[in-house]
Amino acid sequence: MNREEAFNLLKEYVKEDSLIKHSLAVETSMITYANHFNEDLDKWSITGLLHDIDFEMYPQEHPYKGLEILREKGIDEDIIYAIKGHGKKEEERESLLAKTLYAVDELSSFIVASALVRPTKFEGLKAKSVKKKLKTKSFAAAVDRDQIKESSEDLNMDLTEHINILIEGLRNREEDLNKENLSLL
Ligand SMILES: [Fe+2]
Ligand SMILES: [Fe+2]
Repeated sequence: MNREEAFNLLKEYVKEDSLIKHSLAVETSMITYANHFNEDLDKWSITGLLHDIDFEMYPQEHPYKGLEILREKGIDEDIIYAIKGHGKKEEERESLLAKTLYAVDELSSFIVASALVRPTKFEGLKAKSVKKKLKTKSFAAAVDRDQIKESSEDLNMDLTEHINILIEGLRNREEDLNKENLSLL
């Protein structure tokens, strides 16, 4: 499956704009890290795009229903392993792909939320201000701060560097998406 087919598959299962945007943000972060780690761009992109494919239709069975949907489509087992790994804290995440997905899932949308409340959005957004918002419990209160901290440690990334890498990736992607009438914001 290529990236375009994956995006079409996502749109079959996801109609909510907010979940499409989350999927695109996580995809962006996965592509950014595929570049950073010199990994397969398409594989990492598809992992990000499809990680929440079942969340709208089968929230109680997430992500396990998604694994079934993706297996039926013949998706690589290492993508399926990584997607399974993001579902619960207790899941196994031995591969770099799985560790990265887990480390960018919550944080990507947190950075997007941080950009949304600024007049200049991603432009000029610094890790320092994202970290300050992480300490503000009332901001994006649903985001699990411990998950962000633990998952970045498991990826062996310093949190400031991790956030900076993602900000840059998200900012660049937003410009490209705007040309296609799409947005992360
Ligand atoms: Fe999820
Ligand atoms: Fe997600």
